Amino acid sequence: MWKAFFLAYGLLGLPAPTAATNLTSFVNLFIGTASGANGGSGGNVFPGAAIPHAMAKVGIDVSTAPRQAGYISDNSTITGISLMHDEGTGGNTNGGYGIFPLFPLTNCSFTSCPVGLNARLIQRAAGTDAATPGYFTTTFVNKIKLEATSTRRAGLIRFTFPPSSKNSTNHVVVDLTNDLQRSFHGGSLSLSPTGRVMLGGTFFQSYGPDNYTVFACYDFTRPSSLSSLSAFGTFQSTSTSAPNTIAITPSNTSLNYPFTSNTNPTQAGALLSFGNATSVTARFGVSFISADQACANAEEEVPDWDWEGVRESSREQWEDVLSRVMVNTDTEDPTIVQLLYSSLYRVSLVPANLTGENPYWSSPYPFYDALFCSWDTFRTVHPLLSITSPHEWSDIVNSYVDGWRNTGYIPECRSNTKAGYVQGGSDGMPILGDFAVKYGSQAAKLGVPTDDLYKALVDTAENTPPDWYRVGRQNTAWKTFGYIPTDWTDPSGSTGLPTREASRAYEYALGDFAVRQAALALKKPPADVTKYSNSSMNFVNMWNPNITHDGFTGFAQRRYANGTFAFSPPDACSPVDPTPHSCARGTDNNVGFYESSSWEMSFFAPHSMSTIIKLMGGDATFISRVDHYFSKGYFQAGNEPSFEIPWVYHYANRPDLSALRIRDVVYKNFNTGIGGIPGNDDSGAMAALLAFHLLGLYPVPSSTQLLIGSPFLSAYTIRNPLLSTSTKVTVHNFDKTTLVRTPPAGSRLYVQSVTVNGVLRGSVCWIEWGDIVGGGEVIIEVGADPATAKGCGEGPSARPDSLEAGGFSSVPSMI
Ligand SMILES: *[C@@H]1O[C@H](CO)[C@@H](O)[C@H](O)[C@H]1NC(C)=O
Ligand SMILES: *[C@@H]1O[C@H](CO)[C@@H](O)[C@H](O)[C@H]1NC(C)=O
Ligand SMILES: *[C@@H]1O[C@H](CO)[C@@H](O)[C@H](O)[C@H]1NC(C)=O
Ligand SMILES: *[C@@H]1O[C@H](CO)[C@@H](O)[C@H](O)[C@H]1NC(C)=O
Ligand SMILES: *[C@@H]1O[C@H](CO)[C@@H](O)[C@H](O)[C@H]1NC(C)=O
Ligand SMILES: *[C@@H]1O[C@H](CO)[C@@H](O)[C@H](O)[C@H]1NC(C)=O
Ligand SMILES: *[C@@H]1O[C@H](CO)[C@@H](O)[C@H](O)[C@H]1NC(C)=O
Ligand SMILES: *[C@@H]1O[C@H](CO)[C@@H](O)[C@H](O)[C@H]1NC(C)=O
Ligand SMILES: *[C@@H]1O[C@H](CO)[C@@H](O)[C@H](O)[C@H]1NC(C)=O
Ligand SMILES: *[C@@H]1O[C@H](CO)[C@@H](O)[C@H](O)[C@H]1NC(C)=O
Ligand SMILES: *[C@@H]1O[C@H](CO)[C@@H](O)[C@H](O)[C@H]1NC(C)=O
Repeated sequence: MWKAFFLAYGLLGLPAPTAATNLTSFVNLFIGTASGANGGSGGNVFPGAAIPHAMAKVGIDVSTAPRQAGYISDNSTITGISLMHDEGTGGNTNGGYGIFPLFPLTNCSFTSCPVGLNARLIQRAAGTDAATPGYFTTTFVNKIKLEATSTRRAGLIRFTFPPSSKNSTNHVVVDLTNDLQRSFHGGSLSLSPTGRVMLGGTFFQSYGPDNYTVFACYDFTRPSSLSSLSAFGTFQSTSTSAPNTIAITPSNTSLNYPFTSNTNPTQAGALLSFGNATSVTARFGVSFISADQACANAEEEVPDWDWEGVRESSREQWEDVLSRVMVNTDTEDPTIVQLLYSSLYRVSLVPANLTGENPYWSSPYPFYDALFCSWDTFRTVHPLLSITSPHEWSDIVNSYVDGWRNTGYIPECRSNTKAGYVQGGSDGMPILGDFAVKYGSQAAKLGVPTDDLYKALVDTAENTPPDWYRVGRQNTAWKTFGYIPTDWTDPSGSTGLPTREASRAYEYALGDFAVRQAALALKKPPADVTKYSNSSMNFVNMWNPNITHDGFTGFAQRRYANGTFAFSPPDACSPVDPTPHSCARGTDNNVGFYESSSWEMSFFAPHSMSTIIKLMGGDATFISRVDHYFSKGYFQAGNEPSFEIPWVYHYANRPDLSALRIRDVVYKNFNTGIGGIPGNDDSGAMAALLAFHLLGLYPVPSSTQLLIGSPFLSAYTIRNPLLSTSTKVTVHNFDKTTLVRTPPAGSRLYVQSVTVNGVLRGSVCWIEWGDIVGGGEVIIEVGADPATAKGCGEGPSARPDSLEAGGFSSVPSMI
């Protein structure tokens, strides 16, 4: 179905803005690449070569950890250039993927070349790392230059040896076993003297308990060229007990290590000699199916070894993606321009398009991986893709639905093709709910079967998997109690990691809201709407009205099965927690919240914020409580549960306070340096958050509402390729002096009115998604008057919707 669609899309001949734009020149790939060691910001950003949603992500790997994406901007030594990486994720601090690295060597004799991981380490010459979308380069201190460019599953890596090496022999190591984690479980290599090396190996995933098997194919000499290797052979550890003692076997052409359930420490690979050639290019392909398919991918995607062609094609794909948000790069603030395009770039690096590479089931639907994790990405990444990237997003949503079709549950944290760990709720649910409300009426055209999408939501909301730590939810508990009891043994025998009860309950409630919204949008039985409306309000069950902390009363807490609350200090797991607590997934988490505090999660009901305001005692108390949350240091800029909070003043009728808070949060936590993001990029979650802040928008999950704020740009145009629309957002009276952490008194920061295609809106607090993608012009008028008396505007729907207050009552206004 989706294949037929792509054909049709190609025939539509949509405008190609790529010729006119050079937006890739505003992307800084090194933002967020600072070391996370010793409390550094550690964005774990991947700065290598990749096309949008690429499977191949080619980049260099450093020898020091943490290095989740392989790369760190520091003076660490390099272990090689490898073919796939994660982007911005947490997980194993040694990193994910980093498979089948190459390493160039010069001035060694074949059998004594330093092929092993520790022997070959070398530093980069200072200041030589450089990258633009689709291209990466660096130069080692021995003057060997590395470059890479790539397609979806293939690419080219070029080594340029220094002129002095003409008197030496130049070599390339092809490493079979050393992934970033050194987690080799077995695999094989075969090489042909004509310069083809085929590899396969099984390695550990970066977030989860499973292994994955991956393949690659390298060609070192073009078929048309008569040149061949001047020498070749394999290398291998002489024994597993002395893995760093390595023998080189000239002329050997194959290695094979049977699968072992324990990690095999062996180092092994191929060594190729290119005589005195000073330029060596490797073409590679990757696959999750077979080494033959990896070779076929390389032949199909890089048939002519056309370096400039591959690089230019990658650049054009990025221009297309970036040009979906157009700003005047000459007149807008240069820092904001760089932050915006660097963020839009990272948002489209993942999820990875593995279509045609699914090793587990055959399916006519797309297959996407690196959903790492939906907990991170549902809040900002998917809503941003819904605005700019309808075709890609439909494919991603289809892949979530296909995960349900083949496993019974919506995937949550698929990484390295395997299920990772579930952090909170099943947070693919709000993603599917979001699609239903936004593109439900276009779904057939987009190839997304909405009956299946809805069934995926209902099954995930109703059924309990045997292990809800990998996928799905603990619905046995949720349905029995309306919360997740602590210290409770599930009589059904279903298991998971029995922690994070309070934060999971908040996320389950939002997940049920997603089903409710999908039911409404897709015209499912009204009883379903009622049922899931009801259960989406169950977050109130975690509310203990009797706890007072810092002078504020009422906090989210865990409960026992008998209904009694289990106390944990509301500031536990906040950044200023006076007592060390484990705030992760493990059994040592005894506070009930995951990577968040009660102080923070008590604000979390984006679908019914009016309920939260009531529980907290009304607008005034709510506002002082949000203020206190920031001033006391409970806000954790670098992690997802905090994303929405600078905006929540909107719900208390004070968008002026949100405007001030967002300027403060952005300028305090984001910049264009290597430490320019406050935490892990998390598969683009942080990037999408910043993009929304800058555009003056914030998405309400599984809804067509966006909170509207004070943009950091005087104008921007959103292009939606499915709808063939351009929507221009213009800020009247835009004031550049507000582009600071604390806008000066009298600066024109505050939204006064919102006009959509000539019609004045009754609210300055929210706008419809359809207004942002529907074409035409949105005018946001700003001024120096905070308009505190006016708040969001006149009338009952001036404030953003809340379910409890009768919001979200109509069928979402789809395009
Ligand atoms: C884009 O801009 C960069 C930096 O100014 C420049 O080096 C490059 O040549 C430009 N590319 C195109 C295609 O205009
Ligand atoms: C690498 O950088 C660190 C921190 O800047 C410095 O202390 C160290 O001396 C440097 N090491 C080398 C080998 O340059
Ligand atoms: C090559 O290696 C030899 C012996 O290790 C060394 O003396 C020589 O300086 C090296 N030449 C270059 C160009 O690095
Ligand atoms: C190569 O070696 C020869 C003889 O030692 C020397 O004359 C020549 O300069 C060297 N060439 C390079 C590029 O280093
Ligand atoms: C490189 O090797 C070739 C073949 O062995 C030889 O003809 C050529 O002179 C060498 N070039 C240099 C610069 O040493
Ligand atoms: C790892 O891979 C092997 C072979 O493919 C498989 O039998 C095993 O179940 C996988 N998982 C773990 C945790 O070893
Ligand atoms: C290559 O070397 C490995 C390891 O020494 C050995 O097991 C294998 O049999 C050799 N293969 C061939 C084709 O000689
Ligand atoms: C994903 O890969 C498939 C198969 O090659 C292709 O048809 C589709 O256009 C790709 N999607 C994106 C967003 O690159
Ligand atoms: C709503 O859920 C509660 C339990 O959480 C239940 O008692 C009540 O009957 C439900 N109401 C409807 C209308 O389904
Ligand atoms: C809160 O305190 C009041 C008054 O002591 C008591 O009646 C009520 O049961 C308490 N509620 C909870 C949830 O502990
Ligand atoms: C509820 O269960 C908890 C944990 O077992 C226990 O400490 C508490 O006393 C119980 N409360 C009541 C009212 O039985």
